[in-house]
Amino acid sequence: MKTFVANSTADTAKLAAQVAALAQPGLVIALVGDLGAGKTTFTKAFAAALGVSDRVKSPTFNILNTYETGRLPLYHFDAYRLEETGAEEQGFEDYLGTDGVALVEWPQFMAALLPASQLTIDFSRGQADNERVLTVTGFGEAAAIEEQLR
Ligand SMILES: Nc1ncnc2c1ncn2[C@@H]1O[C@H](COP(=O)(O)OP(=O)(O)OP(=O)(O)O)[C@@H](O)[C@H]1O
Ligand SMILES: [Mg+2]
Repeated sequence: MKTFVANSTADTAKLAAQVAALAQPGLVIALVGDLGAGKTTFTKAFAAALGVSDRVKSPTFNILNTYETGRLPLYHFDAYRLEETGAEEQGFEDYLGTDGVALVEWPQFMAALLPASQLTIDFSRGQADNERVLTVTGFGEAAAIEEQLR
């Protein structure tokens, strides 16, 4: 487990860029944190660092947005609405641990689909308005990514 204090969205973006540079096909990143914690902000910076040229928008209503214009395919999930419907039988497995990198907001609502090997990033608010504490834990193969973050 490694902890980073981000005092601005730029700091969050820097960590996202570091992770993006280390990302390999099949990586799953669980983004844990409350409403407004910074999960989508992180994802936008991650996408930019991967070289995604499309505008990245929160997939709150469609659950999954896919981007194919970066170094790796990027699969951006927001599982918030799956709390009601469940995550089964929607074909999401095709996007998890396969050819691209998956970033999952509200991972607790599709936990059964997520591989044990994953990078978990927990976002919590700090004292100041723009302060966020990002706690990164790499499980399985993703431990190597945690190891390399500075
Ligand atoms: N250090 C920071 N890191 C990330 N976001 C920050 C930071 N400081 C302020 N913010 C602001 O906090 C908000 C985070 O919103 P964002 O949409 O990323 O949250 P979210 O975790 O995706 O929420 P939701 O669960 O609703 O999808 C943005 O308005 C962003 O500008
Ligand atoms: Mg979001």
